[in-house]
Amino acid sequence: MMKIAVAGVGYVGLVSALGFAYHGHTVTAVDLDKYKIAGLSAGVSPIFEPGLEELLQEQLAAGRIQFTTDGASAYSDADAIVIGVGTPENEDGSANLNAVYQVANEIGQNIQKDCLVIVKSTVPVGTNDSVEAIVKEALKNRAEVHVISNPEFLAQGSAVYDTLHGSRIIIGTDSEIAEAKMRTIYADYGQPIVVVSRKSAELVKYASNDFLALKISFVNEIANLCDILGADIEEVTEGMGYDARIGNSFLRAGIGYGGSCFPKDTKALHWLAEDHGFVLRTVEAAIKINEKQKYTLIHKLRKEMPHVAGKKIAVLGLTFKPGTDDLREAPSIPNIKVLQREGAIIQAYDPIAMDAVAAQLGDESMMKGSIEEALVGADACLIFTEWDEIRKISPDTFTRWMASPNVLDGRNCFNKYEMEAAGVVYQSIGRPLARVRQLQ
Ligand code: UDX
Repeated sequence: MMKIAVAGVGYVGLVSALGFAYHGHTVTAVDLDKYKIAGLSAGVSPIFEPGLEELLQEQLAAGRIQFTTDGASAYSDADAIVIGVGTPENEDGSANLNAVYQVANEIGQNIQKDCLVIVKSTVPVGTNDSVEAIVKEALKNRAEVHVISNPEFLAQGSAVYDTLHGSRIIIGTDSEIAEAKMRTIYADYGQPIVVVSRKSAELVKYASNDFLALKISFVNEIANLCDILGADIEEVTEGMGYDARIGNSFLRAGIGYGGSCFPKDTKALHWLAEDHGFVLRTVEAAIKINEKQKYTLIHKLRKEMPHVAGKKIAVLGLTFKPGTDDLREAPSIPNIKVLQREGAIIQAYDPIAMDAVAAQLGDESMMKGSIEEALVGADACLIFTEWDEIRKISPDTFTRWMASPNVLDGRNCFNKYEMEAAGVVYQSIGRPLARVRQLQ
């Protein structure tokens, strides 16, 4: 078993640190944020993620993980140091690598023995070369250091599951010594191990995320076409999904992708290509389609209700997807801002993220304690997140509580015929009410 230091306790750093501990390694996780470190040391997770706090407490009790702000000592005697710090988006869409490079420098200064430096943060192609140069430049002691690209594929809401049961482990290195050590670290994971060059590994991550983003934007465009032509996107994707080359997942039409990865990683790869004089037209299209798609509900609403001033609008679901408290690139936020600017009275509900949204928008009064409170007296209801609690709403709840039951569903949560039968004026994404079925 190895002694592993992990830099950064965000999603990637924290969940992979716990994964290493779970598989028997001795882990020290480092972060500059002393409040997060104190909380984690006491068994409190800074993020909401199913199974995370239980795993944290279990590994703390087993003595396999500890948390510290003292990077210097954590890095000094580690067999492997994992870089899992954030790479936020710069103004121009490129990835901001300041934190990665800062940690690389600190690692170099403190290494006292041969070790692996494993880059898990999502970084543009070529960054591992820079990390290697920075670490080697900063070295104060004689040590052999291998820098390995090892991207992480966890999704929010299932981060713990994804880490323990991932589809593959990508190891980017040209060194046989480093490969052998990496295989030891991951020996018990039971996941396919793919060894490729460092640059390829860096690109695997972006290409995978951007492909998935593209898949979503493609389906959303076909859904918009369904709305025009009178076809149903769920029927279309059901038919498509039987072709194994297409696959039946990630074909859910909606109001676009949000979160901390797809919006950032599409822009970062597009920016990187452009920086090399090459335009990635498919990714560019995915970005543009997604930007527009997030306002689909407002466009649909305007047809029913050209002026929203003074109207009560219920908003159900605020996070970028269910199972997380994350609001990064959540379509709900810009939509609420547009409606508020136009004078609408917002009545919002989310099972988890209400305090965070209230703080972000500086308005607590619009947050309601339950679905019913959000719906009461509303002239329209916009659904942004498919939380189970929202999917389970019975159609007559809308007719009972709303002043006029206009429901615009951005995540296709309901059966359109049941909604119509209950008297709801229901619009979703790519699922117009087909007249032929209505008459049967
Ligand atoms: C994603 C990748 O899934 C993960 O492998 C990578 O490491 C990080 O980025 P995440 O952003 O947590 O993970 O969530 P994901 O479940 O992939 O959803 C991203 C967005 O796409 C959400 O806004 C979701 O609502 C949307 N989505 C997803 C769709 O609109 N349709 C789909 O079919 C799937």
